[in-house]
Amino acid sequence: MASGQKSQVIGNFFDSRWNAYRDFLNLDLLNHKTLFQQLATHIQAHLPKDYSFLDLACGDCEPAGKLLKIHPAKSYVGVDIAAEVLKLSFTNLKHFLGKKNLIPLDFTLYLEEPGESFDLILLSYSLHHLKTEDKRRCIENARKKLNPGGFLAIIDGMRLDGQSREDWLNLCYNYMENKSEGKCPESCKIVKAHMIEADIPEEGREYLRMAKEAGYSKAELSLEEASGLGILFAHA
Ligand SMILES: C[S@@+](CC[C@H](N)C(=O)[O-])C[C@H]1O[C@@H](n2cnc3c(N)ncnc32)[C@H](O)[C@@H]1O
Repeated sequence: MASGQKSQVIGNFFDSRWNAYRDFLNLDLLNHKTLFQQLATHIQAHLPKDYSFLDLACGDCEPAGKLLKIHPAKSYVGVDIAAEVLKLSFTNLKHFLGKKNLIPLDFTLYLEEPGESFDLILLSYSLHHLKTEDKRRCIENARKKLNPGGFLAIIDGMRLDGQSREDWLNLCYNYMENKSEGKCPESCKIVKAHMIEADIPEEGREYLRMAKEAGYSKAELSLEEASGLGILFAHA
């Protein structure tokens, strides 16, 4: 399947199954709390108060909305291919008074176009859907959209060194299912089927390599061995 087609299939999945993913958000099965806390700390340390924020694959913008309560940006642009999910963002960003723009689009296409540049570019829980060469291209294109002093944050499933995709799927899925304590069995089933069909995570160290090759000045990785989830910061 061509990349654009696959992205649309994934967008349709999230448009029709958002309630299952919402259970995962509500129960914090993907460790948004700790990973977004690390992001908040990094923003505090590195960005000016009036930073500009590009959120790629923003979903319903709830995680970004919470972050914006702690660190209000000057402007926020959210891009997501799932147009129905994106409509939910208006409620989650109601409190945000800065300039905002929500764009229903494939983020890989957004990154190809010249235009605005940003202090923070976030890609959370979505890059893993792309093939390796498309991930690399996104990381390269994101660098071109960063302001000096800005950074790219990738929060995602990442394989440990030498770990196979199958072993990562077992580790990550079992972690989330255990954490759910049986509270959302149907949603677990739906997400598991999606992961098996669509998730192709890279090794964490591969993201570090891609960032270096794309010309970022500095890249840092923090990868949780228990969950197979991690965060990469790559500075312009
Ligand atoms: C697992 S959700 C993550 C949502 C949010 N970023 C978060 O942290 O919870 C994945 C999101 O990526 C979006 N997505 C997947 N591929 C995309 C693409 N190529 N372009 C734009 N959005 C995409 C889906 O529509 C979905 O909303």
